[in-house]
Amino acid sequence: MDRKTAHACCFFDRIGAMTKILEISGLQYEYEKEQDILTLDNISFSVESGEWLAVVGQNGSGKSTMARLIDGLLEAKSGTVRIDGESLTSENVWDLRRKIGMVFQNPDNQFVGATVEDDVAFGLENQGIPRDEMLVRVEEALKQVNMLDFKTKEPARLSGGQKQRVAIAGVIAQRPEIIILDEATSMLDPTGRDEIMAVIHDIKKKYNLTVLSITHDLEEASQADRIMVLQKGELVQDTTPMKLFSEQENLIDFGLDLPFSSALAHDLRKRDFKLPSGYLTEDELVEVLLQNNLK
Ligand SMILES: Nc1ncnc2c1ncn2[C@@H]1O[C@H](COP(=O)(O)OP(=O)(O)OP(=O)(O)O)[C@@H](O)[C@H]1O
Ligand SMILES: [Mg+2]
Repeated sequence: MDRKTAHACCFFDRIGAMTKILEISGLQYEYEKEQDILTLDNISFSVESGEWLAVVGQNGSGKSTMARLIDGLLEAKSGTVRIDGESLTSENVWDLRRKIGMVFQNPDNQFVGATVEDDVAFGLENQGIPRDEMLVRVEEALKQVNMLDFKTKEPARLSGGQKQRVAIAGVIAQRPEIIILDEATSMLDPTGRDEIMAVIHDIKKKYNLTVLSITHDLEEASQADRIMVLQKGELVQDTTPMKLFSEQENLIDFGLDLPFSSALAHDLRKRDFKLPSGYLTEDELVEVLLQNNLK
């Protein structure tokens, strides 16, 4: 395909319903040569622009390794990673990586700036963004995560949830296409977790961001459009949270816990409570129980 045709295709893809922002094909990885079992084996999937994909799986199933391969921090043994239509190579890794923002588990390991605003500006300075634009972007990003009042504060003095919101501000200031959250809420208390989830919902909508969230928290994963399960380096499920959580035996086979609301609904059904079939979120379950009680 010549460049002009490729550009036209891309344009029509964008104005059409969906664009594949991420396409992974036959991805294989091993940390050491000739490992008995590959760390990742033949992983293929794609993600539409604006989609929220949750990735779950037991410890050591390969989730973080997959994230590192997508961000070009590791190089695949075989297979391809295409980001926004372009195959990731050692030549274009620095350019393509700009399309991806990563937020990691430990909020304390993600700070480089002495103040919150310096920290958010850091990635922009590295990209050579002019100062005027940088100030606008930092202000906008901090406002978006509700941390503008803290801009002159030292990151060390913030709560875990506030730190993660600043880390997210640092990512969105760089205007990525995809945000990858690798256990970004796992060290937070329930309030911090809720704050982060609210921010993710907001920024996804505002910037039409594609979200890939790796998590052990199935309640959190239930908010995604789609969910994938990794098991011992293999992709064993690619479905909707609703479907996955209504198949309890499967969850147990994959070594996953039941979401709290599923376990409770299961017990209530056993006690002859009349509940709608399928997966119910905590809020939906509370709603159904309240309605039953009021009748
Ligand atoms: N730097 C490394 N060198 C060698 N082996 C590694 C390295 N990092 C991870 N591994 C191994 O690769 C496998 C996949 O690890 P990975 O960190 O991708 O799993 P994960 O699904 O993210 O687990 P967790 O839920 O605990 O974060 C594990 O067996 C792990 O021990
Ligand atoms: Mg991990």
